[in-house]
Amino acid sequence: MFRVSLEGRGDFTEWRDAARNFLSANIAPHEIEWRFQGEEAGLFGFEEGDRVPQIDGASSVNVPAAFMPLAQTIICHSDPTRFALLYRLLWRLCQDRALLEFKSDPDVVEARKMEKSVRRDSHKMTAFVRFKEVPLSPGVVGRRRFMAWFEPDHFIVERKASFFQRRFTDMDWMILTPKGSARWDGETLETSRFAAQQPDLSDETDELWRTYYANIFNPARLKIKAMTAEMPKKYWKNLPEAELIPDLILNAERRVLEMGAKAATVPQLFHHRLQAAADSKPAPVLPDAETLEGLKHEAQGCTLCSLHCKATQTVFGEGPGDAEVMIVGEQPGDFEDLAGRPFVGPAGKVFDQVLEETGIDRQSLYVTNAVKHFKYEARGKKRIHQRPDAGEVQRCRWWLTREIDLVQPKLIVAMGATAVFALTELREKLSDLRGRPMPMEGGRTLFVTVHPSYLLRIPDEQKKAQEFQRYREDMQSIRRLMDVVRNRGTTMSSVG
Ligand code: URA
Repeated sequence: MFRVSLEGRGDFTEWRDAARNFLSANIAPHEIEWRFQGEEAGLFGFEEGDRVPQIDGASSVNVPAAFMPLAQTIICHSDPTRFALLYRLLWRLCQDRALLEFKSDPDVVEARKMEKSVRRDSHKMTAFVRFKEVPLSPGVVGRRRFMAWFEPDHFIVERKASFFQRRFTDMDWMILTPKGSARWDGETLETSRFAAQQPDLSDETDELWRTYYANIFNPARLKIKAMTAEMPKKYWKNLPEAELIPDLILNAERRVLEMGAKAATVPQLFHHRLQAAADSKPAPVLPDAETLEGLKHEAQGCTLCSLHCKATQTVFGEGPGDAEVMIVGEQPGDFEDLAGRPFVGPAGKVFDQVLEETGIDRQSLYVTNAVKHFKYEARGKKRIHQRPDAGEVQRCRWWLTREIDLVQPKLIVAMGATAVFALTELREKLSDLRGRPMPMEGGRTLFVTVHPSYLLRIPDEQKKAQEFQRYREDMQSIRRLMDVVRNRGTTMSSVG
């Protein structure tokens, strides 16, 4: 058995040199006992009694590129088994260069776990190091000096030192930890692998941190689980602001209520207009969700997702309650949001124009959207359309499904990928589905085409004309399908 004892404080070269020797001598992993000198270790070296193969000019080893960064990260881990694990990986990589791609291999799993832990620790260090100013001695003139105490899980100080050098280049600082230290004086970055003692540090910057934290803390966004995952409790003792956390959590509910009471109450101008119009209408006689009217009324108060917060109103579907054909778009746009009706803006104009050219009467169609509220981002005075995400589409499907149940269309036309996803959960390329009638639940037929707003966005005139023509042809297919479903009322597999 060979025994090797390493200092093991995140120094990659000491492990690499030993590993190279063993590998050149063809010594298998199970023949080596890797030892860690631990916290008390002095300089790197093999202990008396350790057997290290004496090799002249150990040859370098050719490993896949992905191994080096992985090994350099893992070597910082504080688990003493990391040396043996790395050597096992190295040994096995010489036989199988694709080893790291086998994600379920136990050695690879263990290595990735260690890598993740070191990365997480490194990330926490960049977030939670808090510098305190160390006053200069009386009469001494010079740059301001700062010191920080941090307690990492792993030997990451050397690894992260250059980050702090770049970030705090114009001040002198020192970061002390039980797993090594770093120091910057404006010219030289020095690191040490030895354990530092915790200094007595407290100054007025603590108060600054606390003020800052108390001000950025939003009680309405309080998620204790997420917060403690981001700022694990073990770091709290060295974070001046952490002492505020229990109180902030305790008072969060009261503060949310206060914030609500103080919230701005002046709505945008167009809200007044809409409110006045709504007030002047008689209350709906039959607010009954068993009817389309009732459903529409119910949808006006929809809060299933957050889109209702910014939108002016719910834009529900419209058309005959027994329409044979239902058209499904994506979501209302700017115009539709203000008018409260689907497809009345620029995309609606394209839609109307092509319907007319094809001889389809819009009045015979039930026209609706996958999502019933306008999603946008305000830029200056403009409201820029944003695509609804999968969660929003899934929540809004509740309304779409009930519209389908009540209208019972024989043919449903999905215009665009969002409509396809809302109706089928499919995320296929639109071009793979387009123009092919497909059977749906309930004996219905689904027909997929592009969204008219896609046509408006095509910059090249020639391409635009071609795509308009294809859209027209889709509408002609839809017209033929309408005749077929009207006469037969069954699912189609093709349209002649
Ligand atoms: N785009 C849509 O998908 N629906 C509308 O109602 C308007 C634009």
